[in-house]
Amino acid sequence: SPSDPDLVERARKAKEKLGDKVFVLGHHYQRDEVIQFADVTGDSFKLARDAAARPEAEYIVFCGVHFMAESADILTSDDQKVVLPDLAAGCSMADMATAEQVAECWDVLTEAGIAEQVVPVSYMNSSADIKAFTGKHGGTICTSSNAERALDWAFEQGEKVLFLPDQHLGRNTAVRDMGMSLEDCVLYNPHKPNGGLTADELRAAKMILWRGHCSVHGRFSLDSVNDVRERIPGVNVLVHPECRHEVVGAADYVGSTEYIIKALEAAPAGSKWAIGTELNLVRRLANRFAPEGKEIVFLDKTVCFCSTMNRIDLPHLVWALESLAEGNLVNRIEVDKETEAFAKLALERMLALP
Ligand code: 13P
Ligand code: SF4
Repeated sequence: SPSDPDLVERARKAKEKLGDKVFVLGHHYQRDEVIQFADVTGDSFKLARDAAARPEAEYIVFCGVHFMAESADILTSDDQKVVLPDLAAGCSMADMATAEQVAECWDVLTEAGIAEQVVPVSYMNSSADIKAFTGKHGGTICTSSNAERALDWAFEQGEKVLFLPDQHLGRNTAVRDMGMSLEDCVLYNPHKPNGGLTADELRAAKMILWRGHCSVHGRFSLDSVNDVRERIPGVNVLVHPECRHEVVGAADYVGSTEYIIKALEAAPAGSKWAIGTELNLVRRLANRFAPEGKEIVFLDKTVCFCSTMNRIDLPHLVWALESLAEGNLVNRIEVDKETEAFAKLALERMLALP
């Protein structure tokens, strides 16, 4: 829907007044009305790097979700302030692994006598606490664009990986990209005693997958893929690795949001694409590439927006920018020093991956 012209003008004015003091980052899942004010857009990895590369900006306004703003705070200097325009923009997947649950899991691994062989690899989509746990135990962060490299690195450090919190990204990377078998993976359920696993099962596993998932991508099914192939002969199915294993297995291409955009940029005119990721991005890509004769459809019409990404709307962005322009620091995301130090270790290991 077109954005309210009055709000557009207010956002433009506030941004102009702030000048170089503000830098606005926008994740690809953000609404069009917000994306138009982003100084850069990107996937989680690119935005983390871009945030760290702006030391002159006093304010980083993060149009994305809470864990991304935390990561930006960790990677920027102490006098830079990261602002999340709506504090309710969380991520249900990140919430599926709490610090207490992960500490308990580590006790279970210790009891089973394997903690020393285990390297944690945590998806960017996790709280700063989980990132700190990861750094403390010699592990790294990964995103959907470097998960394979992160796992390669981890298996050079130890024999087993504890992958948090997205079981699908962990399983898809291990099995699809690295040639492990499904039997090499076990699923740790934080709601069951001992994760629902025996010590023998833990000892036999190479990949210990946390039982978390994305509620948006989890809704694509094998039927979605089969139906679209029937409906659109010759369609290329391109999905995000947060999708379930059988969906990724049936797709033609798999990658992060940035990968999806690059693939469509490189696609020939006349090609047809069904995309399995969040709707704001798919709609924007469909509109952008329609004039070039590329047909882009959503993989499954029953799946839609990420509701928390969508919380950042133009009214919230205007409010945040106008407040900053008036000298009121609102909605600052600040990670405490101790958590930050260990989380930074893990994030820097990711940034140093080959
Ligand atoms: P990427 O942008 O890194 O592909 O991640 C998708 C996502 O779900 C972010 O929340
Ligand atoms: Fe979290 Fe999924 Fe939304 Fe990404 S799309 S922010 S993983 S709920």
